Parts: sequence; C-alpha cells; structure tokens
Amino acid sequence: MYAKWTFPFPCRSLGRVIILSSLQQAADRCKKTALCCILSPIFESAAECMGNICWSESRPPAVKEIPLTGTTSSYAGTSSKFTGFSQDRSSVEQSFNDSVQSDSVSSSHRLNDNVESLKVFSYNDLKAATRSFRSQSVIGEGGFGVVFKGYVDENTLVPSRPGKGMPVAIKKLKLEGMQGHKEWLAEIHYLGALHHQNLVKLIGFCAEDRNRLLVYEYMIRGSLENHLFQNGRQGPAMPWETRMKIALDAAEGLAFLHGAQKPVIYRDLKASNILLDSQYNAKLSDFGLAKYGPLGDDTHVSTRIMGTYGYAAPEYLATGHLSLKSDIYSFGVVLLELITGLRAADKKRPPGQEKLVDWVKPFLKDKKKVMQIVDARVQTYVSIKEAYKLAQLVNGCLDEFPKSRPTAKHILETLANLHEPVEAV
Ligand SMILES: Nc1ncnc2c1ncn2[C@@H]1O[C@H](COP(=O)(O)OP(=O)(O)OP(=O)(O)O)[C@@H](O)[C@H]1O
Ligand SMILES: [Mg+2]
Repeated sequence: MYAKWTFPFPCRSLGRVIILSSLQQAADRCKKTALCCILSPIFESAAECMGNICWSESRPPAVKEIPLTGTTSSYAGTSSKFTGFSQDRSSVEQSFNDSVQSDSVSSSHRLNDNVESLKVFSYNDLKAATRSFRSQSVIGEGGFGVVFKGYVDENTLVPSRPGKGMPVAIKKLKLEGMQGHKEWLAEIHYLGALHHQNLVKLIGFCAEDRNRLLVYEYMIRGSLENHLFQNGRQGPAMPWETRMKIALDAAEGLAFLHGAQKPVIYRDLKASNILLDSQYNAKLSDFGLAKYGPLGDDTHVSTRIMGTYGYAAPEYLATGHLSLKSDIYSFGVVLLELITGLRAADKKRPPGQEKLVDWVKPFLKDKKKVMQIVDARVQTYVSIKEAYKLAQLVNGCLDEFPKSRPTAKHILETLANLHEPVEAV
C-alpha cells in the first residue's frame, strides 16, 4: 500500500510493516521478535535507516501495524541500502499528513485533494525530457537540488524533443538528508492546492526509487536574484518601473497566501525564489519550507529555524516562533534589495555593510537621506516622495515587533498606490 523497499540484508518479516515512533521502540521490538525489518511508509533518508531498522520521527507515538500487500512489498538482496520505493498521488498526500502531524499542526489544517491535478511523471519521462539530465540542460542549482530545463508535449505532457513542445523546469532534489524529501512533499502539498498568477505553477512530480523530482512551468527570465545583481552596481541596471512591478507582483502572491482560507506562511521569501516570465511578471517559487499559519488566537507556530541568512525575521531566528509577520520582514528585505540594487547579505562588502538591513536602516527614517540608498543607476526615475513612501513601508516591514509590521494586504495597497495620480490644477 505504501512503499516498496529493497533491503541489502536478509529479512523475513515483510509479511507486514510495523511502524514505530522511535529508534528505541524499534530496537526493542526487533530484539523481542527477532524480526528486523521495521519500516516507515514515509521514506525519509538513509540517515534514518540504521542497519535493518528504519523508523520515522514524524510518526505519531502510537504503534501501528499495517499489512503490506501485493506488489508493494519487496525484498531483494541488492547491495544498495534501499532502492525500491514509489509514491502515487494518494501516498504523497498521506505522507504529508503524517509529516505535519509531528509538526504540531492541527489535523484540521490538512488538505486532501491537492495533488489530483498534478501529473505523475516516471523517472524515464524526465530523463528523456532533459536528455539524461545532461549538464547543458542545467539552469540553476540551489541548496536542495539542481534545476534542469526540459521539454514536454503541451497537451499530453509526455517528453518531447529538446526545443519542441513546452519548456519546463525540472528540479531534481538531493536526498542526502531528510530535508530534501520533506521539501518535496511540502512543495507538492502547497503548490498542488494553491493556484494564483503570482505563484509558480507546479505541473507534476516524480517519486521513483530514491529519486524525487518536481516539474514546474518554465520561467524564461529565471530569478530576480539573477537579474537584479548580475551586473554588479556598474553594469546596466534593471529599470525602476520593472522593480516596482516585481514588488507589486510578489506582494500579490504573498497577500494571496496570507489571505487564504488556511493562511500559509511562505518562509522562504528571497530574490532567488521570485521567478520572472518574459514580461517580467513575478511569481513566488519554492514552497518546501511553507507552513500553515497559527489557528485561532495563537500568534505564531513554533518550528525549527530554517530560512536564508539576511532575510529571516529576528524573532524567528531567536525563538523559532513563525508567523505571517515573519514573511513580512522578508518582504521588507526584498523591497530593500529592489530599492538599493544590493544583496541582503554580502560578505564582500566592507565591515558594517555586510548585512543590508543593519547598514541601511538608519537612512530609511530620514527624508533628507533616503535618496542616498536608492540605486544610483536608477535614481533619476525616482522622486523623493516615492522613495520616502517606500522607505516608510520597508521600515514598517522591518519593525522589531512583528505585530507592528503591516499586513501583506496593506503592502499591496501601498505599492499599488505608489504613483498617485497628479492632481488637476
Ligand atoms: N521554474 C523555473 N523556471 C526557470 N528557472 C528556474 C525555475 N525554478 C528554478 N529556476 C532557476 O534555478 C535556480 C535554482 O533554484 P532553486 O530553487 O533550486 O534554488 P535557490 O532558490 O536559488 O536557492 P535555495 O533553494 O537553495 O535557497 C533559481 O535561482 C532559478 O534561476
Ligand atoms: Mg528557489
């Protein structure tokens, strides 16, 4: 039902799968029964499989026994640790629900039908679409995987010849740690359910053996990071109007997430996760760290601290308390990058200037100084009034008290009204 495993050691207990919550429990069970295959339906990583005991931290504490039937169980004496595993749509969703349970998220937060609209690709499909994942197809690389450009038929989504059909971006996750799999699951869960013109479209996924891949719409201009910083401060600059359009689009995406029936904390807002199409329409990507917001009167959810240096809110870094307002802080940082043309963090800058927020914050409050931080290459296109309005908005986003930060809706309204109509004389 859940997983197909291949073990490198003799194991006779594959008539059933025993799911336990901890290694200790697994070890005890193993000693007692002398049956040493203890599996989790959620494939985590090699790190969670020690010897012939596999367990999952994300399991609820209760011991469950689930019969494993049909072709899904397998034992083969290969040399690899475990190689046989595949997930279809329903088991992906089950896995996500299991993993959120352990993350103190209420069960009422779960979605069930999100993955219905996604195409399940085979590994061979994606291999063909990228010409065997050859290096010429690589369009980017992040901490959790390499991104390839591939082609599929627009209607059938079967792989097509390079240059023919529809281009797609294929992310192949590195699965050295458990994080890769978790990110893959979260991405499918959230992007499978959330559809908006300012969120990148997830087309499908692949889970075969140890491979985890995601297939997205191809964003021809790549990331904001590539564009905004590619020429240093000397080369041609991204036009001011484009920067403001991108800010507005990103705010729309964020307002959509925060305004959803079950508000979603994006947690990874940064220039490399804002992707651009041919018209510089901006879309948020990478939902691997996303999380549902708090319920009821709670102000935050507690979670492990993950994110990117320079963008993460200080209270989140200090306490692990995550809220919608953590995203607002990150949005303030991105807006500051757009205004200044400088990276959120850059070790190559002189001491005191490495972290953009710390360096620039004093300039934001002073109308006379505010033009000094605007990227010199685009200054002629920016009025003091506009720069100051933006500076005030950034300042609010970066407020040390999360409650004092504006909402995404407020940011959206402010940005939309940045160019006030000239009053008639
Ligand atoms: N859908 C897409 N279309 C076009 N290019 C993409 C797409 N998705 C990702 N890329 C490119 O691949 C790069 C790597 O993306 P990825 O999300 O793996 O890492 P990152 O966001 O740069 O960093 P990290 O995820 O490690 O924080 C992006 O910066 C972008 O240039
Ligand atoms: Mg990314």
